Formats: sequence, C-alpha cells, structure tokens
Amino acid sequence: MRAILASALFFHVVHGHIGAFTKGMYCRNGTEPGVENQNTNDAVQPLYNLTKSDWWMHHSNKCDEFPPLPGDFLEVPARGSFTVELAGNRALTSFSYGGRYVTAWGDGKNHPDDYSITNLGGEPNPSGSGCIPDPNLHAQNETMAAGTVFAISYESDIKQVTEENLVVFTVKYHTPFKLLATYDVPDLPECPPGGCHCVWGWVPNHCGQPNMYMFPHRCIVTGATSTTQLAPAKAPVWCEDDQSRCVTGPKQMIYWNQLDGNNVVTEGLQLDGDWKSPGYNQKMGFNDGAQHDIFLPPAPTSSSDPTTTTSLAVNPPTEPAPTSTSQSTDAPTEAPTSIAETVSSSVTTVTVTMTETVSYCPTSTTQTPSPSVLLLEQEWKEPWSQPPQALSKSLTKAQHLRRGPSFRV
Ligand SMILES: *[C@@H]1O[C@H](CO)[C@@H](O)[C@H](O)[C@H]1NC(C)=O
Ligand SMILES: *[C@@H]1O[C@H](CO)[C@@H](O)[C@H](O)[C@H]1NC(C)=O
Ligand SMILES: *[C@@H]1O[C@H](CO)[C@@H](O)[C@H](O)[C@H]1NC(C)=O
Repeated sequence: MRAILASALFFHVVHGHIGAFTKGMYCRNGTEPGVENQNTNDAVQPLYNLTKSDWWMHHSNKCDEFPPLPGDFLEVPARGSFTVELAGNRALTSFSYGGRYVTAWGDGKNHPDDYSITNLGGEPNPSGSGCIPDPNLHAQNETMAAGTVFAISYESDIKQVTEENLVVFTVKYHTPFKLLATYDVPDLPECPPGGCHCVWGWVPNHCGQPNMYMFPHRCIVTGATSTTQLAPAKAPVWCEDDQSRCVTGPKQMIYWNQLDGNNVVTEGLQLDGDWKSPGYNQKMGFNDGAQHDIFLPPAPTSSSDPTTTTSLAVNPPTEPAPTSTSQSTDAPTEAPTSIAETVSSSVTTVTVTMTETVSYCPTSTTQTPSPSVLLLEQEWKEPWSQPPQALSKSLTKAQHLRRGPSFRV
C-alpha cells in the first residue's frame, strides 16, 4: 500500500510549490466562489514575471478576493511564537480531510529527518537535478533552504497595505523544509479592531524558476502590551559581500523578478558562483528570528515636550498588562497531534481515497502529467540549478531576463 501511495503521489509532486496554510489565510477554499476545494493549491502558486497589479497580494489568481471568514485570524502572540504549515496543497495540511494526509513533510510523504539530495531515502529524482525533488523546496538540503518570513501591516483593509506599511517582523532561516515552521514574534502592538494583514514571503535560492512568493493572511496580535508602533519599511539591499551595506531597521518584503514593481534588482554572481538570488537571509541583510529593530522610538511620556514626537505616538502608553509567558511555548496547537495521528494511521486509509479524490494538480484534467509537462519542469530546473557558466542554455535565459525593461543592469 505504501508503494501505491508513493506512486500515486509521485506523478503530481512535480507541480508542487510551497505555501503557508493558516486559519487566517486567503483563498483557503480555493478561488471558485461558493465552492470549498479541500484539494486546492491556489495559495502555493509562485509569482514570476508578472505586473504588480497581479503579483501584489497574489492577485494573479484572485486569491486576494477570497478573504477568510470574519473572525478567522492567524494569531500572532507578541513576544511569543506561532506555527504554520508549509505545504504544497491544502490536501496535505490539517485543514483538509481531517488531516488524513498529513505527514511531517509538505508533500504528504515520509522522508528521512536529514533529507537531502545525498540522502533521498528512496524518493525518485527523475529530473536528475541537484536539488531535493519533492517537496519542491528549491534546496539541496535543510542548510540550503533560502528562508521565509512573515511581514505585518496594521491595515485591516487589504487594499490599504503598501510596501512601506508592510514590515517584515519575523524571519525563519533554513525554511521551507518540513511541514511545520515556527516563527518568533517581537513586541508587536495590538492590531486595529478589524485585524492586521500578515504576509508570507519566500524567495527560493535557485533549483528552479527564479520566482518569489507573497501570500496574504488576516492576523491579530495576541497578548500585546506595547503600544510602540512600527516604523515605515525600507527596501532591503544586497549585502552578501559587504555586511556594512545591509539595510538595518524595518525592511520591506523582497519584490523581485517581476515585470514591474520590483524593489530589488540583481545583476552578476553571488559568492557561490551562481546568479544572484536575493533571499530572506544574510545576503539581503535579514537576521534570523524576531525582528526587534522595526519600531518607532517609544512614544513620549506625558511629561515630555508635546511638540517633539507627538505625530509618532498613535496611542499614549497605558499601564502594561500582566505578561503571559506561557503564550510563547504553546503555539503549535492541533497540527503536531494530527501529524502524529496521521503518521500512524495513514497507510491503512490513504490509498483508495488518494487515487480517487486527491489530485495534486487540480488544474490538470488527468491524474498523470503529460510528458511535456514533465519536460517543462526539467527545463526549468536544470538551467537555474547550476552555475550559469556550465550551461549555455542558462545564460540565454538569464540574459533574456536581464534584458527585459524592468531588469536593468
Ligand atoms: C469554506 O467552505 C466551507 C464549507 O463549505 C464554508 O463553511 C466556509 O464558510 C467557506 N469559507 C469561506 C471563507 O468562504
Ligand atoms: C548542503 O548542500 C550544499 C550544496 O550542495 C553543500 O555544499 C553542503 O555541504 C550540504 N550540507 C549538508 C549538511 O549536507
Ligand atoms: C516576461 O513577460 C514578458 C511579457 O509577457 C515576456 O515577453 C517575456 O518573455 C517574459 N520573460 C521571461 C523571462 O519569462
């Protein structure tokens, strides 16, 4: 049965990308009005070479028009941490089928703990690329995983979110890798009554199309005691070779390789000899963990000169509420339990349902991709997963990309 499951999954994973699944996510039901699609991968589609009107907030497939239900928020505990599921399809998360297809990995399969291109644990690698074939993590191993983030905007209306008010507040190095990722939270203030927007981001480091991920969730900050507001975000800059050039303080998300609206434009090679690929890591000046340097100077106390910084202080500081320290340790709620359950029960229940109802590429009409689809995936993988000098094909593609009007040198 395990073999059948593996082969049933195998034919679909070439389409897999990764997205963050939470209670507050947009288009959790998919993007067909009035229909709940438990098998949706709308949220995991990467963004590449699009106009800003399409890539901003994942408008490309209208996810931004499918908000969560009122009251459904990703909960972000101030000074604590929160856990999300990074998977290739809702079917593989605790949000679908009672968690039946959940494993420790975002492709619903089982892999070695130290899964890597040199320890595939039997996972087929048909493209022969030098990267983990599935989940499509765009990495050779955990160390090489590029890093993911959440940014927060204190706007309840998604249309009011801008580059400047959307501030990266937590960075998780070496993700995406396994299903669960836990992000640490700085001392965020409370959201307005309609909630905030929290946006997940990832820029893979090669191993495929040089795309980016930007995906909106509604969120609230719980346990907030601080009233210090966030400062406007600045665009990050490339500083791999000179850390003194890194932008400090609040940073924007990375907007890259799109037709317009990029805030990062790269040229040339990174230190490992591959094309520069900006990511949420040291190359772009992002430190791991909670970002503590994103705040305005503390609001003045009532005794200070009212003319100095009143415009910065939206709310005067109130008496701090008692701090809940337990908040930070119990962040993962249902997911770990359901995973444990699933790992032990999945083999007996999966096979029939999987082949009948779970298609990992809902847009495709058949269960198995055509040879041309597989080929396309391989074409993407090979040129970008190797140093450009090695393949004339990749040079052509890279030059083509750099010649485009918005990819100035
Ligand atoms: C998603 O689908 C379920 C089941 O039909 C429904 O109860 C829920 O309201 C839907 N959520 C949204 C945001 O439309
Ligand atoms: C991870 O992959 C990179 C690139 O192939 C390699 O240099 C590094 O040694 C690997 N690390 C581990 C722990 O396998
Ligand atoms: C980007 O999109 C433009 C306009 O659709 C197209 O002409 C160009 O070939 C695309 N570039 C890449 C690298 O896909």
